[in-house]
Amino acid sequence: MSYSQVYAASLKDPAAYWAEQAQALDWFKAPSTALMATEHGTYQWFSDGELNLSYLALDAQIAQGRAEQVALYYDSPVTQTKEAITYQELLARVERFAGALSGLGVEKGDTVVIYMPMIPEAAVAMLACARMGAVHSVVFGGFAANELAIRIDDALPKVILTASCGIEFDKKIAYKPLVDKAISLAAHKPKHTIVCQRPMLVAQMDAHRDLDWYAFQEGAVPAKAVPMKGSDPSYILYTSGTTGQPKGIVRDVGGYAVALKYAIHQVYGMRAGDVWWGASDIGWVVGHSFIVYGPLMGGCSSIFYEGKPIRTPDAGAFWRLISEYKVNSMFCAPTAYRAVRKEDPQGELAKAYDLSSLKWIFVAGEKLDSSTYQWLSELLSVPILDHWWQTESGWPMTAPMMGWEDPSLPRLGSTNKPIPGYDIQVLDAEGHELPANEAGHICIKLPLPPGFAWSIWKNNERFKTSYLTDFPGYYHTGDGGFKDDDGYVFITGRTDDVINVSGHRLSTGEMEEVVAAHAQVAECAVIGVHDELKGQVPVALVVLKAGADIEPQDLEADVVNMIRDQVGALACFKRAIVVSRLPKTRSGKILRAVLRKIAASEQYATPSTIDDASILPEVEEALVAAGFISLVESSPSA
Ligand code: COA
Ligand code: AMP
Repeated sequence: MSYSQVYAASLKDPAAYWAEQAQALDWFKAPSTALMATEHGTYQWFSDGELNLSYLALDAQIAQGRAEQVALYYDSPVTQTKEAITYQELLARVERFAGALSGLGVEKGDTVVIYMPMIPEAAVAMLACARMGAVHSVVFGGFAANELAIRIDDALPKVILTASCGIEFDKKIAYKPLVDKAISLAAHKPKHTIVCQRPMLVAQMDAHRDLDWYAFQEGAVPAKAVPMKGSDPSYILYTSGTTGQPKGIVRDVGGYAVALKYAIHQVYGMRAGDVWWGASDIGWVVGHSFIVYGPLMGGCSSIFYEGKPIRTPDAGAFWRLISEYKVNSMFCAPTAYRAVRKEDPQGELAKAYDLSSLKWIFVAGEKLDSSTYQWLSELLSVPILDHWWQTESGWPMTAPMMGWEDPSLPRLGSTNKPIPGYDIQVLDAEGHELPANEAGHICIKLPLPPGFAWSIWKNNERFKTSYLTDFPGYYHTGDGGFKDDDGYVFITGRTDDVINVSGHRLSTGEMEEVVAAHAQVAECAVIGVHDELKGQVPVALVVLKAGADIEPQDLEADVVNMIRDQVGALACFKRAIVVSRLPKTRSGKILRAVLRKIAASEQYATPSTIDDASILPEVEEALVAAGFISLVESSPSA
């Protein structure tokens, strides 16, 4: 069947389509139903089936003869360490760790926070939680203690798993003191912290609360995988929304397993035995789906990389890994390739390596600019495949189906066509479906396919108001864009206050809350401005309180430190510019879209809803005076 036929069939009868895909899994108990409506107005997939993600990723692979195949290649140029961990060895580590967690009193349904660098112990921890039915919540290491504390208070973990440090290029980042600080800030106090001590920076331990990673596993009874219901939660992953309270996206077990198995084979085109590299971090959804669970469930060897695309030791790092491990395909955010290109514009370093194993490269996480696309295509001579998804979806929403005989060809600027099961529609502000080539809100007609999140942790209502209320009958992705005549989807950017910095999703609203807490600040707006390397970076426009006595550069230094301290270094927040007033609507809403245009030196039209149009040239002058922009060429039009 062609793509169009399969796609149409998947929308006509989603339950039948996905029930068929579900047969690819080793269920403990096969589900009797595929799709079911829930009390809170959403759906569940495979709710009465029984299965276990760790079993599917490990035991089932070993049963199929992959005991001696490498499951994870750990490659850490920052510590000069390499490890090839077979499926058998990984299973042994996971069983032991799960047994030790049980010994501590962690039970099915308990939550466990994981705040760790890219070391194999982190993957073991995730798989061990899945094995015993504990709900893990991995927090990216670049987040500050305050962010970790917010997640601790929401997830209420029984234990926190961490390491003494992470390594960023040649800098040691002490993780354990951040965990200590987060626990002191949080109202909830986890019973134990389990610390993986790394020799390059050993953490101080609290004798009452902290346990050594290896000592606590001594004598542990290896744990079997517990049967989980299809609708049980597998993990919580916090993502940025529009406020300071991140959204705890909850993933199920059954739908997720079906989606990942489908995606690794049919979307990414990987077969068992292939080498796959998700070049991201376990703190992001990519790390969950396509560093740990997906590739292992697909019987692949997955690369677990503790390094950067550049300066580890050089911009040839990616090419070395591809050649050394004979990587067949990889995932990466475009920003990483922009960083490589900046260091090595001619791609000279790639020439030293045999890259012939590589079949194609997938990119996502942010817009793929055409020059990076051209550069990469010419350098590697393999298809560069843009595709689109988000934390909530858990797996791709648009992509070429590389496991099929006739995958849709890439089209510049597009993230390709919808994957079967995704009824992607472009809606206008009133919720009408728009015809081809007209831009609007990108939405997905319900029901959502398996693997997609159906809730926010302990807050079904927030899920509904965040995603299902603006356009009844549809899931609102928060992205804008359009479809062309052939059904290719084009993502033009977020329509909310979320920005994307180096492929990392961040909330400007959250940063505004931090900046506004400065004693001299009356109000502020944080906007995302274009950055050649990082895609976007945040900039604050700040109005000082009447009578405030602070030099603009001191104010900037203060708020830069505040964001670093309370959100984290990953925000790349470096600029705060003082303005006299902010443009608002008559009802008091800050007009961010026009601010974004001014900050990008783009021509702008004065919004008809503006309360005082004279504020716009004022802001422009302030940005010019701060050296942030040069004068906007064309004057505003009404
Ligand atoms: N733990 C602690 N700190 C971290 C961190 C982590 N896991 N990740 C990033 N940071 C810190 C960095 O050290 C840096 O701090 P600094 O301001 O003190 O230097 C800051 O956060 C910003 O990091 P980043 O934007 O990543 O810049 P960089 O110069 O360190 O690296 C790239 C640049 C391009 C190499 C890097 O951004 C990259 O690999 N990006 C790809 C991201 C990705 O895979 N996204 C996919 C998500 S789906
Ligand atoms: P995250 O939830 O962190 O994975 O971020 C998801 C967001 O990243 C999406 O909602 C988009 O705004 C953006 N994004 C992801 N993939 C792409 C892509 N291929 N092109 C453009 N934007 C993308």
